[in-house]
Amino acid sequence: MAATDLERISNAESEPRSLSLGGHVGFDSLPDQLVSKSVTQGFSFNILCVGETGIGKSTLMNTLFNTTFETEEASHHEECVRLRPQTYDLQESNVHLKLTIVDAVGFGDQINKDDSYRPIVDYIDAQFENYLQEELKIRRSLFDYHDTRIHVCLYFITPTGHSLKSLDLVTMKKLDSKVNIIPIIAKADTISKSELHKFKIKIMGELVSNGVQIYQFPTDDEAVAEINAVMNAHLPFAVVGSTEEVKVGNKLVRARQYPWGVVQVENENHCDFVKLREMLIRVNMEDLREQTHSRHYELYRRCKLEEMGFQDSDGDSQPFSLQETYEAKRKEFLSELQRKEEEMRQMFVNKVKETELELKEKERELHEKFEHLKRIHQEEKRKVEEKRRELEEETNAFNCRKAAMEALLSQAMHATSQQPLRKDKDKKKF
Ligand code: GTP
Ligand code: MG
Repeated sequence: MAATDLERISNAESEPRSLSLGGHVGFDSLPDQLVSKSVTQGFSFNILCVGETGIGKSTLMNTLFNTTFETEEASHHEECVRLRPQTYDLQESNVHLKLTIVDAVGFGDQINKDDSYRPIVDYIDAQFENYLQEELKIRRSLFDYHDTRIHVCLYFITPTGHSLKSLDLVTMKKLDSKVNIIPIIAKADTISKSELHKFKIKIMGELVSNGVQIYQFPTDDEAVAEINAVMNAHLPFAVVGSTEEVKVGNKLVRARQYPWGVVQVENENHCDFVKLREMLIRVNMEDLREQTHSRHYELYRRCKLEEMGFQDSDGDSQPFSLQETYEAKRKEFLSELQRKEEEMRQMFVNKVKETELELKEKERELHEKFEHLKRIHQEEKRKVEEKRRELEEETNAFNCRKAAMEALLSQAMHATSQQPLRKDKDKKKF
């Protein structure tokens, strides 16, 4: 067969031919089947709220979902940042939503804020790891798996009107490759309109100059491209939260009432709450879920698998083989184990040698000490012996002197007893 014929056949195999159908077949119901399947399955959505204690996180969540989530206030005395997830089952029409709100409790309350971002990063990674472990199982149950991966991080910025705090920049920078960040200016009713405008520009400028990637509403889907592009220009949203209802005209609206007037949460002239709800829930919830899976989780998974030794083949080399990678990793692990064992054995031998040397040194010292004491003892003994001899000599000399004295004394006594007799004799002579 000629080469051109072969090329034609292989082209025909790779490019499907388009055919027209003679009548209705029915696969146009596929999208409906998907919708129906998804509705039956239900959805999960996980929001992480990061912001200083008392910045209005819980109030905003209650306002967004038009309900009252039971959350306790955080104290300002937490030793470190703690992540508190709470899951709720919500239903709107026939759609079930498993909503998890994760609060970063105690954020910004520590004197040393260097590591404030760490528990948040660890929490996000832990959720990715759980998902990865489920994926790697032989018997996976991803269908009914409760996906706890964080789909969006609402980052609450304090309405100072100045600039972002370094804590905000550091935290957002650490999180931006792991989660979709939507920055929001909280309690926007506490800042004037002109200040707010300048504040927004400043925040965006600082985020860009520090290379912080925030979530951009997607503009590739025609249906939402326009609104998303407009909304991207409004970031960060300046929001007001309230669950209080106030009568405005003849309508009850959610608002914050002040002595000088009423701030209406859902009035777009007052704040960006509606924009946030629109973007977060009504337009881009699915994109946030998808981005989490296809971008952030994918990155985590890739790094993790590469760490474990797996890698894709490049064009020229052999295709990737799980078996070979496993064998290579096993060999690497075994040789590492052997190396460690050898290291430990050597360490043990060295330790024994060291101890032996130490013991010998101690023995030598003891022996020297013993010899020294022995010498002292002998010296003492010699001295005592000498003293004893001297004493004996002294005693002998004394005894000699005593005997001589006694002899002298007895002689003298004898001489005195003879004297009266001689006197009597002499008297008789006269
Ligand atoms: P912790 O969970 O304890 O960290 O607090 P939080 O961030 O959840 O704040 P929370 O929603 O409990 O609100 C704290 C206080 O701020 C409450 O008194 C709210 O009424 C008030 N607050 C909430 N949102 C706003 C707002 O948009 N503007 C103003 N001015 N006050 C608000
Ligand atoms: Mg709260």
